[in-house]
Amino acid sequence: MTLTSHTPLAGVMGWPISHSLSPRVHSYWLKENGLDGAYVPLPVSPDNLEHALRALPKLGFRGVNLTVPHKERALSFLDYVSDVAARIGAVNTVFVSQDGALSGTNTDAFGFLENLRRNAPQWNEARGPVVVLGAGGAARAVVAALLDLDVVEIRLLNRTKEKADALAESLGGPINIIDWSEREDALDGSTLLLNTTTLGMVGQPRLELSLAALTKMAVVYDLVYAPLETELLSTARSLGLSTVDGLGMLFYQAAPGFEGWFGVQPVVTDGLRDSVLSTP
Ligand code: ATR
Repeated sequence: MTLTSHTPLAGVMGWPISHSLSPRVHSYWLKENGLDGAYVPLPVSPDNLEHALRALPKLGFRGVNLTVPHKERALSFLDYVSDVAARIGAVNTVFVSQDGALSGTNTDAFGFLENLRRNAPQWNEARGPVVVLGAGGAARAVVAALLDLDVVEIRLLNRTKEKADALAESLGGPINIIDWSEREDALDGSTLLLNTTTLGMVGQPRLELSLAALTKMAVVYDLVYAPLETELLSTARSLGLSTVDGLGMLFYQAAPGFEGWFGVQPVVTDGLRDSVLSTP
């Protein structure tokens, strides 16, 4: 496709940015929908974040996604921040308005829930406690989403307990902090297990966890998607449990940005998944 001065532009700012899968996702949707548009990786160092954001309207960008390490710091450089982004304390999607103002929101909670609903439609928030492993940025979005669903109980476990305490205090709600060493007992009676830690990711330590205490109807959801089939998910599958992988969350969190920038609601399909997984 030939790019012109009218081509709608969006991208993703991160540091480093070369590993981001977002350009593959948005490029696939642009092509699939026959749209004029481009989505580019933007390597922006932390020192340059404010200037880079402020340059977006001048460069004709419709907006950007933000990834590590910019999601939290960007809050202070934007003109408007949505309630959900303020609550989570991080922005992952920025829209440039006609007058050049910058609005930030967070679509991670939406992406997390949409992926759960599509891939484990039988799961019901009223049935029992949810176990969340981790208390980093991803956990904040996940816990905020679960609280909005009015789940009966969130059992939150993190290696560094103080971070779990801080997360619970800032988000409020029915959160029980449990020691990391108690993680196998914490599974007892829970209907959903969520891994938001980096354990099990390529190059990171294993997540050591027996799933014996989970009931047969439990869903196991791993936010890690490299590898796609983590040890946690393969263990869950071998026990006959339903599983949800992290790639779908990446797709669903991307959809609101795409719609805002390019004007078409994109669809998450097997074709998208195959394309993202097969692109070298
Ligand atoms: P993200 O933004 O993806 O959530 P993060 O904020 O760096 O990333 O959070 C990483 C999570 O993985 C944290 O919950 C971290 O636990 P700590 O708060 O104790 O650091 C967890 N994590 C990373 N390595 C871990 C390990 N070896 N054992 C247990 N938890 C680990």
